[in-house]
Amino acid sequence: MLKQYCREKCEIIDQALAKFIPGENVYPPILFEAMRYSLFAGGKRLRPIMLMAAADAVGGAGIHYLNVACGLEMIHTYSLIHDDLPAMDDDDYRRGKLTSHKVFGEGMAILAGDALLTAAFTTMLSQPSVPPAVVLKVLGEISTAAGANGMIGGQVIDLSSEGKTIDLETVKLMHQGKTGALFEAALRAGAQLAGAVEWQVAALTEYAQQFGLAFQITDDILDVTGSQEKIGKPVGSDIRNSKATYVTLYSLEEAKRMACQSVDSALSALSQFGTEADVLRKMVRSLLTRDS
Ligand code: IPE
Ligand code: IPE
Ligand code: MG
Ligand code: MG
Ligand code: MG
Repeated sequence: MLKQYCREKCEIIDQALAKFIPGENVYPPILFEAMRYSLFAGGKRLRPIMLMAAADAVGGAGIHYLNVACGLEMIHTYSLIHDDLPAMDDDDYRRGKLTSHKVFGEGMAILAGDALLTAAFTTMLSQPSVPPAVVLKVLGEISTAAGANGMIGGQVIDLSSEGKTIDLETVKLMHQGKTGALFEAALRAGAQLAGAVEWQVAALTEYAQQFGLAFQITDDILDVTGSQEKIGKPVGSDIRNSKATYVTLYSLEEAKRMACQSVDSALSALSQFGTEADVLRKMVRSLLTRDS
């Protein structure tokens, strides 16, 4: 059921992305080739799907917000291209294919990431059918989430913690930044674009924070227990880079327990919603059994 739902949404998102970042009549062609190479390598599209699911959960129609949804996927994809660079995690595979820098070289990979980040804002600013004041509010939140006080801040903690033992508070802060911030932005964007009221935005924010935490804990677990064939990226990358993760800080068992706790908290955050939030419930439950 959830698989089918995600497959259908992925198709819609892919079509929109192909329109926003075309492959024909573009200049310089190599740049667009590199942007599209990573964009269409087979990501799960979780952030745009969740944006749309949040809009649906508050009684709106997520399908109307494809510009903002696709912008989030562009920001996410850029972050992965840069995360894989030799100066960062130095990984050779992503989404089941060679990483951008392995195919296009480091310089072009950096530039493809830069171009995706900026294209995201061009795309999101063209969001139709929403009052400009709401678009501006949402884009303000997304830019904060993607920047120094969000995703990049988290990546900096990640990078500067290599080889060090850090405490639980710092690991949490790192996860909230590098992974949680974009999920939080996705849920809040979907809710606000669809005209949610305050309690709905607050509840979805809490859900997103717990979802993000559980998502990164399970990402850390899959780095140890996953198969490269399924996760599409190298297993053991965190150990090779002496990363501080929930698994290295605790144990696999303890990390699984903490992921369960976050999933339960995410579900509690949805307690005031009816069946219209069932997709969000299924999505967070699925984290505990995910293998990719
Ligand atoms: C991987 O994200 C990077 C993290 C934030 C842990 P995803 O697992 O959503 O990656 P794709 O988009 O499906 O490739
Ligand atoms: C990456 O975290 C988070 C961002 C790109 C912002 P990881 O380094 O754990 O992601 P993977 O495991 O390479 O996908
Ligand atoms: Mg990393
Ligand atoms: Mg990485
Ligand atoms: Mg990881």
